[in-house]
Amino acid sequence: MGKQFPASELKRDESLRIVDNRTGKEYTVPITHNSIPANFFKGIRAAAGPNDRPEDETERGLRVADRGFLNTAVIESHITYIDGDNGVLRYRGYPIEQLAERSSFLEVSYLLIYGALPSASQLSHFTSEVLLHGPIHSDAEGFFRAFRYDAHPMSMLTSAFAYLGSYYGEANPSLQGQDLFTKAAKGDPAALQNMDRQIFRLIGKATTLAAMAYRIRQGRDFVVPPTGMSYTESFLYQLDHLSPTDHLSELHSNKPHPVLAKALDILFILHADHEMNASSTTVLQTGSSLPDPFSAVAAGCASLYGPLHGGANEAVIRMLISIGSPKNVPAFLEAVKKRQKVLSGFGHRVYKTSDPRSFIIRKVADEVFAVTGRDPLLDTAMALHDAALKDDYFVSRRLAPNVDFWSGLIYRAMGFPMDFFPVLFVVPRVVGWVAHWRQMMLSPSGVKIWRPRQLYLGSSTRDYVPQEERTGTFQVGVGMEPSVIEHSGMTKRRKLAEAAGKVRSKL
Ligand code: CMC
Repeated sequence: MGKQFPASELKRDESLRIVDNRTGKEYTVPITHNSIPANFFKGIRAAAGPNDRPEDETERGLRVADRGFLNTAVIESHITYIDGDNGVLRYRGYPIEQLAERSSFLEVSYLLIYGALPSASQLSHFTSEVLLHGPIHSDAEGFFRAFRYDAHPMSMLTSAFAYLGSYYGEANPSLQGQDLFTKAAKGDPAALQNMDRQIFRLIGKATTLAAMAYRIRQGRDFVVPPTGMSYTESFLYQLDHLSPTDHLSELHSNKPHPVLAKALDILFILHADHEMNASSTTVLQTGSSLPDPFSAVAAGCASLYGPLHGGANEAVIRMLISIGSPKNVPAFLEAVKKRQKVLSGFGHRVYKTSDPRSFIIRKVADEVFAVTGRDPLLDTAMALHDAALKDDYFVSRRLAPNVDFWSGLIYRAMGFPMDFFPVLFVVPRVVGWVAHWRQMMLSPSGVKIWRPRQLYLGSSTRDYVPQEERTGTFQVGVGMEPSVIEHSGMTKRRKLAEAAGKVRSKL
């Protein structure tokens, strides 16, 4: 129930009055959901001023500048709400704490995608569709084997999603018509079914592709997704299974350890969605030009992989290893304050007090460590955590630990290699991506291509000058011309040979 307001306040004028001091004109901008439409400002025009450049396009209306999307709402959404000042995260209205404690990853996936908690039969239908879509074409084995032995699993996974799209021509608007999915918004049941089929495939095969990226590096054969296991159990099984006759299988059932499977399930719930983070925005930006959803998800993987986003859990462990021990924490923090180092796993664009996921994850960490043993890096992590939270530099900037500060420690204790951590973020986040993609395709007002604007500060128009006449006008200096790079090996020898003028100039 929202707050009750007196009748006089209910009639409040929901608008913003602004005066353009260049022209003296007054404008009234409508306010909806405490937001103003950026496009309104396009109508605020003035004659070019003495300091304006033609490229400022002053006569064509004001632009709204927002480098890094600090305060721009790009969608209307019903999926996830974050209150960064109060450390709140809700999926479809349900607090993350309740979902982590009482739900399961596939139930949460259903909630995020379809908007409500499922009945028993709805969940059973969804679960069976997702798990049925786990296996992939055996040709995909050749795709994974084409990578170098030391390829980063995120390179494999990012490419693998795009590769997966090549199997499903019926999911490709370029082949089937650009309204292939958007006509679902007009009630076309076949379009809706087609969309959901791709969603089942993407979630079902995310674990399979991730496990293949893992096993190729271990030199193990691939495992067909098992039946009779939960999503996260199946994932762990696909990662670890050797053969029905391996000596450990005789001692134990083939089911993964329940504490580890449960921990992974909770971690997957925590990572499933986070509204307009960088990768979800990328998926929607890509999806807005209406490619197949597999390509959009591949773009999301690329965005997630960066150390400022989903690569942060890997960066945290590398940081803790480099710090080495609690005694080195003060020196490390001093280096952070001098901006010589980055404190990975701290700070967030939205959370300005605490990341609610970090509290849940601390509890999960204790449960995992009770099974796996305590990670020696934990002491350094705790010392860093405690010192940063007491330090004015971090307190004044409202920097608190985020989910990635702890998740890496859990994944490490569970025996995952560091470069696999971002993969463990992608698998659950596929759910958030497809929930947002589906919401976009079903938008009653249609899909608008995401085409932002820029403020052009470069050269004004200039005429082409033939090379022989460019005397004295060359641009020189670091960063202003191609860098001079060192060559080695074959290239070095070829260049030397070319310099001697003895060999062909092209390969
Ligand atoms: N260590 C030291 N200083 C920091 C940090 C940090 N981790 N994060 C922000 N700051 C400082 C920043 O230098 C700036 O200081 P000043 O005002 O003096 O210039 C101030 O705090 C405000 O930060 P900002 O860079 O404007 O914040 P942002 O919203 O642009 O960036 C962030 C958010 C998450 C990229 C950033 O906090 C960061 O780089 N954190 C480390 C990487 C990390 O842990 N990423 C995972 C995020 S959570 C998982 C996910 O959703 O992907």
